[in-house]
Amino acid sequence: MTDVIKKENKLTKVKAPIVEALKKAYENPTYQFHIPGHTKGNGSLPEFKKLIGKKALSIDTTDEFDNLGTLHPATGPIKEAQELAAKAFGAQKTFFLLNGSTAGNLALAMGLTKKGQKIIVNRNCHRSILTGMIISGAEPLWLVPNRFEEWGIWGNVTPESVEDMLKNNPDAGMVWITNPTYEGVVSDIKSISAVCKKYNVPLLVDEAHACLWNFNDHLPTTALKLGADAVVHSLHKTGGSMSQSSMLHIAENSSLNVDAVEKALKLLHTTSPSLMLLASLDAARANLDSQRGRKQLERAVKNAKYLRREIDKLEHIHHLKPDFGYKTDITKVFIKDDRLSGKRLESILEIDFNIEVESASDAGLLVLSNIGNTRADMQYLVKCLQKIDQSHYSDICYLENKKHMPMLEPVIKMSLRDAYYAEKETLPKEKCIGRIAGEVIAECPPGIAVLLPGELITEAHMPYLVDYETIEVIK
Ligand SMILES: Cc1ncc(COP(=O)(O)O)c(C=O)c1O
Repeated sequence: MTDVIKKENKLTKVKAPIVEALKKAYENPTYQFHIPGHTKGNGSLPEFKKLIGKKALSIDTTDEFDNLGTLHPATGPIKEAQELAAKAFGAQKTFFLLNGSTAGNLALAMGLTKKGQKIIVNRNCHRSILTGMIISGAEPLWLVPNRFEEWGIWGNVTPESVEDMLKNNPDAGMVWITNPTYEGVVSDIKSISAVCKKYNVPLLVDEAHACLWNFNDHLPTTALKLGADAVVHSLHKTGGSMSQSSMLHIAENSSLNVDAVEKALKLLHTTSPSLMLLASLDAARANLDSQRGRKQLERAVKNAKYLRREIDKLEHIHHLKPDFGYKTDITKVFIKDDRLSGKRLESILEIDFNIEVESASDAGLLVLSNIGNTRADMQYLVKCLQKIDQSHYSDICYLENKKHMPMLEPVIKMSLRDAYYAEKETLPKEKCIGRIAGEVIAECPPGIAVLLPGELITEAHMPYLVDYETIEVIK
């Protein structure tokens, strides 16, 4: 155990009801005649059991059993854990999510939007928001954020653009903004919220990438404190919980129909929620809310500052900095080498230096300074970037042909839901130009739409469709 971890473990213990209940259940095993059928790992493949550990399989259970409470409705330790999370994040109510923030966005759309209702949403939103609208039948009105052409990414959404949309579409029922972008670009949510209040429409904010913000003063302010009505947080992305686990928060003073959101969540969620995932959300909140968690986050911020300072000294490699009119989340470091594509830089880091980054595009790559990264990790990355900066790597064409970050403005020919459910045919990609798309094409990361059902397919889409041989189009 490193000294850093030993020291962290000594710091404040914070209440974590699901973790405690699961521990109690583990220490007091019953004769089990219920799901999951592997029965504490006895029925598992030995190799898998060895890999994951007997203890992990012993605590792999679902709600209903062992006095662990239920998720829908929230009872027992699960209810208590959700209440503690609401307090820690500054929300009126918090729902634990399985199936990630995707589940939260689906529930918000299903619970709060209606067929034919117009929703103002940034084009670079995650596909889960669009899936939600396909389910509810709401129609997106596309907000086009600033473009950072030089970096090949979308930038911030301006309050002025939101106000223009609301002025020109008095029947719009809601504004739904993604903040920050995947690369950490932050919009002025305070002003956007003031605009929404002026026009009397709710504001939802997809903060999938921002669950750390409430726990460190060097990070931007969460929309929960800036007048938004609801926020999703992918705790599993940066908050320290296990993959797939997220949270949906309803803001303190919001008058959203919370009951409708809860009912939608109940329908969308599995009926066998993993207690391990729920416990990991409880643990992540308890950790972030403790002195230990705050120290880990402080370290992540300091590491990010160090990485940025060191990149500033390089000749060819640069990082996206806060500039006029927008801020960034310092822990998300978008890097590019002016000689190489982002994909090429990613492959050099991976093959030559055994480094895996968050994502890469034709333009650049994204490094996350995480709460779990040590200074030694960052020093290694800096050393490798220094070596690359001084070497003569060249680009490889096949890595460049494909475009990754969809930045096209759609030509809409049919409503999203009608097109999704219309009769379709599958054609070779080249024959689809001039036809109307019938499927969602939004690869992850970042899950941003290249094409949506109902949109005209043009020549400009082709560089984004390198991996597709065929596309579904409307008959
Ligand atoms: C902005 C945004 N919202 C929502 C999601 C969905 O989150 P999850 O993977 O937790 O379902 C993502 C995932 O990448 C995202 O980038």
